[in-house]
Order: sequence, then structure tokens, then C-alpha cells
Amino acid sequence: MSAITTLLPDAAATRALGLLLGEALFPGDVLALVGPLGSGKTTLVQGLAEALDLPAGVPVQSPTFTVCNEYPTRVPLLHVDLYRLGDISEAEDIGLVDRLCDGDGIGVVEWAGRLPELIPPNALWIRLEHEEGQRRVTVAEGDGGELRWLQERSPPGGARPWMISNAAMPWEPRSSD
Ligand SMILES: Nc1ncnc2c1ncn2[C@@H]1O[C@H](COP(=O)(O)OP(=O)(O)OP(=O)(O)O)[C@@H](O)[C@H]1O
Ligand SMILES: [Mg+2]
Repeated sequence: MSAITTLLPDAAATRALGLLLGEALFPGDVLALVGPLGSGKTTLVQGLAEALDLPAGVPVQSPTFTVCNEYPTRVPLLHVDLYRLGDISEAEDIGLVDRLCDGDGIGVVEWAGRLPELIPPNALWIRLEHEEGQRRVTVAEGDGGELRWLQERSPPGGARPWMISNAAMPWEPRSSD
């Protein structure tokens, strides 16, 4: 199984990666985001929402307290933040398990490593890490796909080329998660 990685030099590059992913995703797809505080997860979701034609003026923010936002995008975009959610039964109680997997929209989950059992097996996992003021992003498909479609697209403006990552897979927990 392979993961690919690149360095995102600034917030615009993180947003542009979200834009690129948003143009490639289909209803039913889920993105699982992993990475410490301030690593750029919401910035990536902002690009994703832009690709899905979010109406001007609608804010995209971490739904830390509400757990889940749904945006009025071309394809419904469900933005989930698991930072404060206890366990899978809480996710079931608020209908999150069904909503994330109903196939009508695109789901994106911040702090996905906190509740990996919520994430469908074919999700795209994305880890963001701080690296000298920039961010390293590592992407892998949960079901072992080779991500050729993503490697064929140059990383966003000013980012370095994709490299095959030898590091741990994005879903493997770290102490910062
Ligand atoms: N590639 C990058 N290089 C430098 N700064 C970046 C990059 N990507 C995003 N940022 C900046 O990092 C800060 C935190 O971004 P963001 O809020 O998206 O992080 P987050 O992972 O969602 O945080 P939280 O865990 O609190 O929800 C913002 O100021 C954003 O502009
Ligand atoms: Mg956030």
C-alpha cells in the first residue's frame, strides 16, 4: 500500500489541494483528516467547499462544538469535527454514522483518528503536519488504492512534486492526534 506526500508552502497551497480534491470527488466519498491543532485541516475544507461552489459569504469553520455542518454546495458537503465527540455510540445517537455513509453527499472529517471506526474503508486519508512553518501532507486510500489519479495532477501552486512516502500511513495514530 502506498501513500504520497508533498510540502505545502503556505495556506493558499493547502486550500488549493482542497480545491483539487473537491474537483475529483463524487457523492458518497469521504475524506478523513488527521493532524494536530492548527495543521490546516479546516483550510483544506475551505478549498473543498470552493470546488463544490459554496455560495459567497457562507463561512467554513471547524464545527468543534456542533460536531457537524452541512453546506449548501452543489453536492452537499458534510463537515464533521470529532475533537469533542466521545465514542461511536455518541456518533450513532446524533445520526452521524448514517449521514456520513448515505452516499448523497461528500463527507470530510477533522480529527478522524479519534474515531476510525466511523470512517468507511474506502475513505481517502490525509495527514497534515507542521514542518518548519509549512505543512507536510500525506495522502493514502484506506482500501489500498495507488492514488494514480492524484499523482497525475501536479500538487497545487508552488508545492513540490508528489513523492512516495515511506512514513507511517496517515491513519496510524501519533501522540499529537
Ligand atoms: N501549508 C501551510 N503553511 C503555512 N500555514 C498554513 C498552511 N496551511 C494552513 N495554514 C495556516 O494554519 C493555520 C491553522 O489552519 P486551520 O485552522 O485550517 O487548522 P486546523 O487543523 O483546522 O486547526 P484545528 O485543529 O484547530 O481545527 C491558519 O492560520 C492557516 O492559514
Ligand atoms: Mg479545524
